[in-house]
Amino acid sequence: MRTAFITGITGQDGSYLAEFLLFKGYQVHGLIRRASTFNTRRIDHLFQDPHVDGKRLTLHYGDMSDSSRLTTLLATIQPDEIYHLAAQSHVRVSFDEPEHTGDVTGLSTTRILEAIRLVSSESKFYQASSSEMFGASPPPQNELTPFYPRSPYGASKVFSYWMTRNYREAYGMFATNGILFNHESPRRGETFVTRKITRAAARIKLGMQDKLFLGNLDAVRDWGYAPEYVEAMWLMLQADEPDDFVVATGVAATVKDFLQASFESVGLDYGKYVEFDSVYERPTEVDALVGDPTKVQTKTGWRHEVTSMELATKMTHADLESCRNPTFNDSHVWRY
Ligand code: NAP
Ligand code: GDD
Repeated sequence: MRTAFITGITGQDGSYLAEFLLFKGYQVHGLIRRASTFNTRRIDHLFQDPHVDGKRLTLHYGDMSDSSRLTTLLATIQPDEIYHLAAQSHVRVSFDEPEHTGDVTGLSTTRILEAIRLVSSESKFYQASSSEMFGASPPPQNELTPFYPRSPYGASKVFSYWMTRNYREAYGMFATNGILFNHESPRRGETFVTRKITRAAARIKLGMQDKLFLGNLDAVRDWGYAPEYVEAMWLMLQADEPDDFVVATGVAATVKDFLQASFESVGLDYGKYVEFDSVYERPTEVDALVGDPTKVQTKTGWRHEVTSMELATKMTHADLESCRNPTFNDSHVWRY
């Protein structure tokens, strides 16, 4: 039985990846932060009682700031595959917390790479790199496009990207960068623009909210469906050689397009409800991200299915369900 270790298992991607790997028969270990309130909502349906024999999901307390904890865990678990997803992942927030973002989203990658080098050098390593690294470089972006990050988040991810490549080249480690473009789902954090929109559309439809305040509606993104993207992460680690791959749909849409599709899917005209608030603008914006996924398609066979406009409908309807029934969990909607 193969063993995987996931940092960021409580996040959107970590939860889908844990589901996917359990489905594939893996023993899955996840790093979770100790918090004063429960932070495991996205993986509660996967929880297995530690007293039951044969359980395949184990959660470990730890933090990406704690090198000795990472080293001890990897020495004990000796995972075949490590998926490093933990990050302060919000671009706008990274302008408010640049130092913290640099620590968790940047330096933490060095911590885990060092731990692997010291105690678990046979493990394959996946780094959650991001299209934000391309920043001001115009689309379409591929593996050869120069990085021009426009936020502390983007700059931290560029650092992590190069540390991953350096450990691959310096120590021969199987260390791969997945450069993923935006991917969304009903489990997306509520302050990212897609989920903010779909949640508002549902709440306005049900009379629970009157207005939606947004920033730049002209930004162009390439939105895919998160469960399909975690499959790409796994495929990248099954390749013969470690490498760097762009994962994207290749299709562009504006925030306004997504807004319109979401509101129309519940019979609403967004123009009646949406207002501008400059607080949601970024000091430096990334105007357009549209990826070219040719390499990942050719080398791993990965393909996307769900389009951004289908995603808008899917997420809005999931939010309607969860407004009506707060215990709603999309685990019965998505099945591998
Ligand atoms: P997310 O939902 O924000 O999840 C982030 C995860 O990191 C959560 O489990 C969080 O734990 C954990 N974390 C944060 N700080 C930590 C720390 N100091 N120690 C340990 N764990 C910590 O992000 P996501 O959308 O799933 O994205 C996964 C990864 O892919 C991130 O690295 C993100 O930057 C990257 N990425 C995402 C996208 C996208 O469109 N989603 C695109 C490209 C790259 P808590 O639950 O306790 O907060
Ligand atoms: N969050 C947010 N809130 N964004 C808004 C809003 C708003 O009210 N109004 C407009 N936007 C615009 C932002 O300015 C940005 O251009 C776009 O919507 C998308 O913003 P986010 O959903 O916050 O995502 P992101 O593209 O900045 O970052 C996400 O994708 C990256 C990959 O490119 C995050 O998931 C990152 O972690 C990820 O690396």
